[in-house]
Formats: sequence, structure tokens, C-alpha cells
Amino acid sequence: MVYITRKEHFNSAHRLFREEYSDEENLRIFGKCSNPLWHGHNYVLQVTVKGELSPVTGFVMDLKVLSRLIDEKVLQQLDHRNINLEVAFMKGKLASTENLAIGIWEELEPGVCSSGSILHSVRLEETENNIIEYFGNK
Ligand code: NI
Repeated sequence: MVYITRKEHFNSAHRLFREEYSDEENLRIFGKCSNPLWHGHNYVLQVTVKGELSPVTGFVMDLKVLSRLIDEKVLQQLDHRNINLEVAFMKGKLASTENLAIGIWEELEPGVCSSGSILHSVRLEETENNIIEYFGNK
């Protein structure tokens, strides 16, 4: 089994909050990410796929195909967007990095699977110091 990773970047705005809480309560729970006037992060996304090598290409999965899939399913929806307001797969969810990593997984999994590979992990850096990894629902 060989693991390959494609690294991408996107910039998005978000706000962490619960509607039923006051701004003060949201600030207490979510900190600066609860700013009512939004703020942005420069996210770093790493998508890892695993599988056996194709005897024809020597690849696990063509990285150009993986790159196109990430662009179509993830970057075009997220880059320079407001996660709370504009991203269909995040509708009704708290815009946490955890939920975002799970959402990205769900967007990518069918395409990776139909290419004959297995999605291993979605790793998302919200900041240099805050990193979330999702390995699927298992
Ligand atoms: Ni934030």
C-alpha cells in the first residue's frame, strides 16, 4: 500500500457562533473566531489517497486527476468564499475546521473511490498551530 498526498491552499471567511447565544457568550466559547463581522484564514489542505500501484503507470492515482478533483469539488466552492453563507456542503453546520474537514472528505470520497483508490485522510491547517485530521467515519 502506497500513500500519496496532494497539498492545496485556499482562503475563506467564517464565523464560529450559535445564533441562540449572545455575542458575549459566543466570544466566551469560540474566542476571536466568533467576531460578528467575520474574519478569514489561509487554510492549508492535504488530501492523502492510498492504494496499490498501477502496473501500467506506476501511480497510486494520477496526481493531476486528484488535483482536478480537489479543485472542482473543494477549492471552487471554498476559495475566497464565506463558509457560513456561500458553501453548500457547510449549510447548517458550525464552520469549525473539524466540520470543514469532514465536509471536504464527503465531497472528495466518491471521486477518489471511482478512480479505484481509497481516501485515507483529509488534513486541514486553519493556522500554523491548529491542525485537524479526519480519517473517515470509522
Ligand atoms: Ni476563525
